[in-house]
Amino acid sequence: MKPPLRLLLPLLAAALAAPLAAADAPPLYRDPSQPVEARVEDLLRRLTLEEKVSLLHADSKFSTAGIPRLGIPERWMSDGPHGVREEIGPYTWAKAGRTDDFSTYLPVATALAATWNPDLARAYGTTIGQEARKRGKDIMLGPGLNIQRTPLCGRNFEYMGEDPWLTSRMAVASVLGAQAQDIASCVKHFAANNQEWERRKVDVRMDERTLREIYLPAFRAVVQEGHAWAVMSAYNKFRGEYCSQNGHLLNDILKKEWGFPGIVVSDWAATHDTLGSAFGGLDVEMGSDLPWQDFYFAGPLLAAVRRGEVPEALIDDKARRSLRVMIATHVLDARPPGSINTPAHQGTARKVAEEAIVLLKNEGRALPLDPGRLRSIAVIGENAVRLQAHGGESSELKAFYEVSPLEGILRRVGARLNVTYAAGYGKSADPGALARAVEAARAADVAIVVGGLNHDSGFDCEGADRTSLALPYGQDELIRQVSAANPRTIVVLVNGSPVTMDGWLGRVPALVEAWYPGMEGGNALAAVLFGDVNPSGKLPCTFPRRLEDSPAHALHAYVEEGVEEYKEGLLVGYRWYDTKGIEPLFPFGFGLSYTRFDYSDLAVAPGPGGTAVASFTLTNSGARAGAEVAELYVHEERPRLERPEKELKGFRKVYLQPGESRRVAIALAARAFAYYDPARPGWVAQADDFRILVGSSSRDIRLQGAFRRTETAAVP
Ligand code: BGC
Repeated sequence: MKPPLRLLLPLLAAALAAPLAAADAPPLYRDPSQPVEARVEDLLRRLTLEEKVSLLHADSKFSTAGIPRLGIPERWMSDGPHGVREEIGPYTWAKAGRTDDFSTYLPVATALAATWNPDLARAYGTTIGQEARKRGKDIMLGPGLNIQRTPLCGRNFEYMGEDPWLTSRMAVASVLGAQAQDIASCVKHFAANNQEWERRKVDVRMDERTLREIYLPAFRAVVQEGHAWAVMSAYNKFRGEYCSQNGHLLNDILKKEWGFPGIVVSDWAATHDTLGSAFGGLDVEMGSDLPWQDFYFAGPLLAAVRRGEVPEALIDDKARRSLRVMIATHVLDARPPGSINTPAHQGTARKVAEEAIVLLKNEGRALPLDPGRLRSIAVIGENAVRLQAHGGESSELKAFYEVSPLEGILRRVGARLNVTYAAGYGKSADPGALARAVEAARAADVAIVVGGLNHDSGFDCEGADRTSLALPYGQDELIRQVSAANPRTIVVLVNGSPVTMDGWLGRVPALVEAWYPGMEGGNALAAVLFGDVNPSGKLPCTFPRRLEDSPAHALHAYVEEGVEEYKEGLLVGYRWYDTKGIEPLFPFGFGLSYTRFDYSDLAVAPGPGGTAVASFTLTNSGARAGAEVAELYVHEERPRLERPEKELKGFRKVYLQPGESRRVAIALAARAFAYYDPARPGWVAQADDFRILVGSSSRDIRLQGAFRRTETAAVP
């Protein structure tokens, strides 16, 4: 007997509804309320081997393939360090010729470091992250964290100076800012990529202590404190093995010791071997000069798994890392749409440029200039008009605009003063250029020479190092002659690494280091020159008197045959000059102000576990508001292993009105007293007496205090 229809209908409806409901419920990996790891595991188990492998290599110059059936989009990466790069390719390096790929041009990394202001680094990262989102990127290739070992390195401008602590603090803040926008930061180049000369072949050798104390701290900090989601392996070899397959760096240190949960991305065309990289810790291969299907981590890796040479568990680990980064940065969820070239971004570009400017010399209060007391200014030098955004190779970008130094000066005083311009020097300057510049200087009340370097190959540019510290294009002679014609000559340097100043430094009353100051640079420079802004930048790197004074060069430990032995060990930058008693041209941490700061009343209070808090009073005893970077260095009295004369372990930038005083406290963790003991192996802080040195630069220590650690302890 048939059941009545009224009984059948609900059953039928239920039968139909059940599969429909199941199909409607989003899979777990798509549910943003689920924990990241649960989503990762759910997604991973849905992938075929081929799909997992597809996540591990590029399929265009800057992207990896998506998996449309599961809603995984393509993953887009972009340079770079100081703004989102213009579009290329996608399958060639040729510019794409688009009109929607401009970005805010921020001051370069060395300039950012010169602000010594982590809040600005955070805003810098936020800007990069928001613009990257707007441009449809997922991973930004930067910041660069390599230590400036030699002043000649072509990419020094992409790095944050010579000190691991300063680099760490600025980098952590920048990465936190970028990643808060759901962008992954890919910090680079891991590790020991400290020169461009032979960067793809050079085999860097150094002892483990030097590695841990100088070249790794910034990477460790961005991984453990900044939670950077990606690390780019470097081109060079390290102890005989390419960094893209260096098990010691990638597996032992980065992944196991530091617990890095993200992806190791190769530098472009830095992968050399399928099995070597698979077992050596690489997760994503980019930029190889091969058809996509032949990438080491494409067909060949798949084949190696099928042959049983690579366990699938290893592929799972790499794919899991990729999925983790995607899910943690909300690639599968609704992400903020991003924004570009906003007033806030322009403001950050301007503020960083202003605070980055370092006043290196100011005799007889030559600066600031008072426009009310001048009639004319001669602006001289190619860098006064040269736009810098579009240079340097991978860090180049298309700026929305770029205010040159001349334009900034004209905007500030052009309506009131007679401003003339003469090139004076430059690639395209003709034989009469120098004479015309000297004439212009003679005819004006003040001459401002804007010189330095540029991003042409051989200067501040990827792919090659400089061959000399001297200013190019005959600038020394130009400045000598200009300053002879007009004693009120102010020199402004636009560059990313130290230069020498041959035969003119003593003759000019004022010298300003502006770095590559980004798209608001001209405005920032004019604001400092005319006193709207009081300079507060400090050098993040030593300026040597001569190349032979700097450590790698003094020891002939640069550009050796194939192997680069870091013979100077720990003595990089000021650690070398201070320990060896060599007088630099301008020391690390140096920078003047239009006001004066006094330091007083240092107290060092011991804390739990061999920690300490140093506090002191800082007073603006001059007539202008301004900011001082107070620097704290630690010296160990009787170290068991040799230590540098002193090491930066804290700093604070303090803004003070005229006459204002503030008590400043700097906390010193146990690590501030520790060194790396290769015999343990590990970090250890010794029972010993320490001197706490507080001052305005590494060579201008104003206060000294004593601190005793009573116990020797391992420091995690
Ligand atoms: C550089 C990297 C850069 C990559 C992609 C390489 O040559 O070393 O810093 O991110 O190219 O452009």
